Amino acid sequence: MRIEFKALSKTFGTARAVRGFTATVDRPIMLGVIGPSGAGKSTLLRMINRLTEATGGACLVDGTDVLALRGGAKRRWQRDCAMIFQQFNLVPRLDVVTNVMLGRLNGMNTAASLFGLFARRDLEDALAALDRLGIAEHAMKRAEALSGGQQQRVAIARALMQRPKMILADEPIASLDPMNAEIVMQALRRIHEDEGITVICNLHTLDTARTYCDRVIGMRLGEIVFDGAASELTTSAAREIYGAGAAFNEAATSTSLDALAATA
Ligand SMILES: Nc1ncnc2c1ncn2[C@@H]1O[C@H](COP(=O)(O)OP(=O)(O)O)[C@@H](O)[C@H]1O
Ligand SMILES: [Mg+2]
Repeated sequence: MRIEFKALSKTFGTARAVRGFTATVDRPIMLGVIGPSGAGKSTLLRMINRLTEATGGACLVDGTDVLALRGGAKRRWQRDCAMIFQQFNLVPRLDVVTNVMLGRLNGMNTAASLFGLFARRDLEDALAALDRLGIAEHAMKRAEALSGGQQQRVAIARALMQRPKMILADEPIASLDPMNAEIVMQALRRIHEDEGITVICNLHTLDTARTYCDRVIGMRLGEIVFDGAASELTTSAAREIYGAGAAFNEAATSTSLDALAATA
């Protein structure tokens, strides 16, 4: 899948959340988007998935501008790019395996989905997805009974049920402790590798981007201020992204155990 962002832009009133975002992804990669709060990271993902409409530019996926799709084609695209959110967005009182099967809803006819008539095949696939994420033993529990890290893995299993061609993860580890953050990032990385699909992952921490991503785009005030290999993400590049002066402290943007210990 080839993705070309051409001057993708979003303004809210007079505020420019994303300005002229231009980049090409020509093979499946794990792409990290980093930047401080308000940089435009969520707006970028929401435009790609059509949760919010861009006010300018294009997003060409294998040559088709997905921002121009309507009706069924738009819904198919939304299924093709599965979203993962910071707050998991599960149905808390519903059991885990049913939450995962909800990932199939877009592909079902409305009457069948209303009555919860999932096919046996959906159940088998959901259990297999949970197993892949190492949480099959929690299948029958209510989602709310699981830890945050487990809930995020349920959300990833639900995303897999969409058979996505791309995964968009909006700060998937921002609510998790360092150990669970690592498990979730490893799960996303493995899905990228096993399925051969692009994962775009918004992160607010540098070290996570360096560890798990092939390429990193740094945003500040809606604009790209860095685009390169994770290994090129030097401290001075980080200063550019975070806009921090001499007082810049990398540990402040870090989730790692080492960095936490360093600030303790
Ligand atoms: N629905 C909205 N209405 C008005 N302004 C918004 C809305 N969503 C985001 N913004 C603004 O757009 C900018 C980028 O926000 P966002 O994409 O959420 O950044 P990030 O995810 O990097 O924290 C911010 O200035 C934010 O206040
Ligand atoms: Mg955000």
